[in-house]
Amino acid sequence: MVILTTFDRLKIDGKVELEIGFGNGEFLKRLATSNKNINYVGIEVSWQSVKRASRKLKEFENVYLVWGDVWPFLMFSAENLKFHRVFSLFPDPWPKRRHIHKRIFSVDFWKLLSLRVSENVQITIVSDHYPSLRWYYDNAMISGCWWGYISESARSFGTKYERKWVSMGKSIYEAVFFLKGKCNFTIPKCDMRIPKLEKITLKEIKGDFKLPDGSHLSIKECFISDEIMLLKAIISEKKLLHKVWFEIRKDGNVWKIIPSEFSKFYPTKALQHTLDLLANELTR
Ligand SMILES: C[S@@+](CC[C@H](N)C(=O)[O-])C[C@H]1O[C@@H](n2cnc3c(N)ncnc32)[C@H](O)[C@@H]1O
Repeated sequence: MVILTTFDRLKIDGKVELEIGFGNGEFLKRLATSNKNINYVGIEVSWQSVKRASRKLKEFENVYLVWGDVWPFLMFSAENLKFHRVFSLFPDPWPKRRHIHKRIFSVDFWKLLSLRVSENVQITIVSDHYPSLRWYYDNAMISGCWWGYISESARSFGTKYERKWVSMGKSIYEAVFFLKGKCNFTIPKCDMRIPKLEKITLKEIKGDFKLPDGSHLSIKECFISDEIMLLKAIISEKKLLHKVWFEIRKDGNVWKIIPSEFSKFYPTKALQHTLDLLANELTR
């Protein structure tokens, strides 16, 4: 078993299946035990859950645990993968209508998911809350790339949340989806241009900036010495959050603005806008 983050690119040979929001990992363990020839990727946003699951799964060579949000995971980490089956068991503890924006299976999410699955994929979503499941179903239909059905679940998945809801006498519903065709979904990726500047003025840059694509840049810290400048920044871009240290340093005859290697960032327009903004600030 390995633990990765959404900033790692996964490369896995052979059949791969995915569990979104694996919680304490017991379902993932059952899958990985009964299908030794299949690889399992689990994505989970809670570090406590990743730690707990990793203890259960440490002996498994066919398991990859990814710590992070499923959106950047599907956009970037899973770029080279095609999942054969996808499970999400009791995915969203957000039954209230005012929390709809926090739910995973939006129309855009279904479109993104269609790019990362094999043609004969089967998606299984289980919930105790029929209106949420119905919302996922309606979004899948609106996306135009899925078909499926909802039924009262006849099988047990044996997870913590299933036990919780069953012990309270609740019914469990299961939605199953199949791919009709790939959707159009644009991943906000771009080829990065590292600014190379002949002359700059090293000066403190701090504060909040609105980027041309509507993303938000916040520069938290700034250190300057004779030869190098370091900036700590957070960029909030729709579903993505970049945490970047930028290095501004001389390379031969030019100054370069580089996101440093240990930072957490995705190669998107917002990152490019930030590089351009810093270049602009340092040359005026
Ligand atoms: C209600 S729990 C269900 C856990 C487990 N599947 C079970 O049935 O016991 C929902 C899980 O989904 C995870 N989760 C919620 N939103 C997520 C997201 N955007 N990306 C990855 N995991 C997410 C939560 O951290 C939580 O562990």
